[in-house]
Amino acid sequence: MVAACAAADLTGNWLLATPNGDGTMRRTYFHLKQQGDRITGTIRATLHLYSIDKSTGGPANFSVSAAMPILGSERRVTYRGKLAGDELQLVEVNATGPGPAMIAHRVPEGEGALPARIEPPPLHPVRDNGLARTPPMGWNSWNKFANRIDDATVRGIADAMALNGMRDAGYVYVNIDDTWEGERDAHGNIQPNRKFPDMKALADYVHSKGMKLGIYSSPGPDTCEGYEGSYGHEQQDARTYAAWGIDYLKYDWCGAFTRYKDSEMQAVYQKMGDALLASGRDIVFSLCQYGLVDVWKWAPAVGGNLWRTGGDISDSWDSVSRIGFSQERFFPYASPGHWNDPDMLEIGNGHMTDTEYRTHMSLWSMLAAPLIAGNDVRNMSASIHDILTNREVIAIDQDKAGHQAKRVWQSGQQEVWSRKLADGDTAVAVFNRASGDARVTFRWADAGIPKAPACVRDLWRHTEHQTGPEYSAEVPGHGVILLRVH
Ligand code: GLA
Repeated sequence: MVAACAAADLTGNWLLATPNGDGTMRRTYFHLKQQGDRITGTIRATLHLYSIDKSTGGPANFSVSAAMPILGSERRVTYRGKLAGDELQLVEVNATGPGPAMIAHRVPEGEGALPARIEPPPLHPVRDNGLARTPPMGWNSWNKFANRIDDATVRGIADAMALNGMRDAGYVYVNIDDTWEGERDAHGNIQPNRKFPDMKALADYVHSKGMKLGIYSSPGPDTCEGYEGSYGHEQQDARTYAAWGIDYLKYDWCGAFTRYKDSEMQAVYQKMGDALLASGRDIVFSLCQYGLVDVWKWAPAVGGNLWRTGGDISDSWDSVSRIGFSQERFFPYASPGHWNDPDMLEIGNGHMTDTEYRTHMSLWSMLAAPLIAGNDVRNMSASIHDILTNREVIAIDQDKAGHQAKRVWQSGQQEVWSRKLADGDTAVAVFNRASGDARVTFRWADAGIPKAPACVRDLWRHTEHQTGPEYSAEVPGHGVILLRVH
């Protein structure tokens, strides 16, 4: 009788492990305590640590709901389940209903617990690495491939970029985003997973094409996709990246939420900034923490070359225009070596029109934003290719002076942005954010150009035309006219 009761208790540490298909597992730990008909404890699902605050039922049929605070709001998970012998049978219940049946097994107490807290270092300025004097250009796997990225795809992308003119137009970084990570070896060295059999060989290959290789990690124990992060291994990982021949690191806050407070972010990023410098290799340092705690004010001090100014982009006009047109307040922080990053390009991913993608490219170039393509460049239409490789537009982005554009004129949904270029020219972008075509007419003087130019160059049409004291043109819905003014 007593034994049967004990066996039917949910109390314990349970692991739900699902294969990721690359030799790694997605692990969720249910650390449960049953007291009568009440269940308490935690659920650690990859980077998320939830506390159970609601429960009903018992071993034969229970439900638990658990919450975690994140980014000023709450994230919640709900599971239903029952104990069947040694197995905990579970389904996750979300807004769309119950998910597939899953089985968790008992594991030793302590397994899956968060690693001990490591105090962040005191602040000090990290020396400028001298890299990224113009905004970094390249490609990243996330927007198109997410967790379906592997060695063969990266090689194929590098081949394509070397042949299709992208490399020669300046896109030199080929960056692997999340899900390349495997487990650490007995000495704590990070290993790639099965999708990346030999990272050094891959770096050698990309270098042989005249390009550079980028990689991704998190200062937390887990990345956003629940893979191994750099927590407690910062110097070791920087040395590993250098030994592999890595040239760029995107360092994504993600699982760091479970170990550090927002106020510790600067010190935590500084730790990797120091580690990259100490590695002895030139590695561009890309901060990804969604624009929290005014990162633009301190990213250069931690050795950062670029920093995300907000949340993730998606392939829609709404996302691109919302992000792009809200970047003006960051303009004082852009300078050679240090760039605001409104996130990677979605050009060519299929859910916008060519007109909208031209606006995306123009706006990012006006913003002196990193140009990190996010489409399948092995297989793109001629028009997408031409948008990504328009050299006159790229020259605006890559202008040596590094001045980020400001909005100089606005009337309803029509806006003019301008930026001063190193040779004394001015880049002027005339945007129509409305869905229908619009005639835009403004006086040069009102757009911050006191002396009306005689002649302007249209960087998409590759033509020059004359103007008077005012500029007037028909701009398509969601479209742009991008001008270079002498
Ligand atoms: C975060 C980042 C994205 C991407 C994913 C990968 O959401 O902001 O750019 O790196 O993580 O998991």
